[in-house]
Amino acid sequence: MSRALDRCYNIARLRERASKRLPAPMFHYIDGAAGDEWTMRQNTDAFDRYELVPRFLVDVSEVDLSTTILGQEISMPFFCSPTAMSRLFHHEGEMAVARSANRAGTMYSLSSISTASIEEAASATDGPKLFQVYVFKDRGLNHEFIHRCKEAGYHALALTIDVPVAGNRERDLVTGMTIPPKLTLASLFNFAMHPRWVWNYFTNPPIELANIRDRIKGDVTTLVSFFNDELDRTVSWDDAAWMIEEWGGPFAIKGVLSAEDARRAADVGASAVMISNHGGRQLDSSPAPIEVLPEIVDAVGDRMEVILDGGVRRGGHILKALALGASACSAGRPYLFGLAAGGEAGVDQTLEILRTDIERDMRLLGCRNIGEVDSTRIRRVEN
Ligand code: GLV
Repeated sequence: MSRALDRCYNIARLRERASKRLPAPMFHYIDGAAGDEWTMRQNTDAFDRYELVPRFLVDVSEVDLSTTILGQEISMPFFCSPTAMSRLFHHEGEMAVARSANRAGTMYSLSSISTASIEEAASATDGPKLFQVYVFKDRGLNHEFIHRCKEAGYHALALTIDVPVAGNRERDLVTGMTIPPKLTLASLFNFAMHPRWVWNYFTNPPIELANIRDRIKGDVTTLVSFFNDELDRTVSWDDAAWMIEEWGGPFAIKGVLSAEDARRAADVGASAVMISNHGGRQLDSSPAPIEVLPEIVDAVGDRMEVILDGGVRRGGHILKALALGASACSAGRPYLFGLAAGGEAGVDQTLEILRTDIERDMRLLGCRNIGEVDSTRIRRVEN
């Protein structure tokens, strides 16, 4: 690993390095969120409303971080959330992330709107893998995705429910972010400042939405018009039930923020909910996952797995979520910052930072395994 990457000893430093290596439209696409970005900030800040309560004089010479999620054993209670178009941030994109997650013994999640196809990403990892689905207006795609995922050996599906329309991503308006990226007169200077990215962009195969390359009309689009034109707003719990039945394996509903929706997810037969506000990129003002985790665990914790997705930057965040009843956590931005900061080695660094953090903090907490990170280890800060 390069020395510069080695010095990125936390996620904030990987973000800083990513900001230097990426042209503005790409960096702000990862880093930005909807509206005033209040929800994105809350996702991380809300962890500070909890304290971890250590217990000492416990033999913590051996600690076991492993757990099982969606039927798959993973080496730590953290996995990679699905994120769109990873090749925008590094030319190896999804393939690099999938390889790195595999090496770390954790799950990789591929987005429907990825720049590597279902089959290509599957060839990069023989470890646990999940495919994220949106419901497209072209309903044939849903059948096709399920069939292709079965053929390619995916272990789980996750249906994202929080995109009836695109969120208001104002940073993308400022930077002129498009898919694929467009070199305009206005952005020329910024691209010229990032020759390595531009070189890789022009010397590698074109960036495209690999799973739907034949279905999308027109060339250059914005994410907002893509979401608004292609995704189906009529999608309902009946469609979720159909998909769960058709898939027949572990299935998560991603984007749940209320006990009511969590109960609906359990009722239609999902095996997990991912508590998520899409990284604050959809409804600004929606609650931070850690805030609604306790009520969702109360409502469905005995019927399904509850995964916290959002705001995780430290191992301590993950332990707080586990102590409040989550089965595991997932996140997108941390590994995308790693990918942009240093390709596959940068993703390795992200996963290593989080693993080291979890392991150290478990020892400091006096917990020898994930089961011991329970409600006795956490208290809400009074104010
Ligand atoms: C895609 O899902 C995004 O949030 O940009």
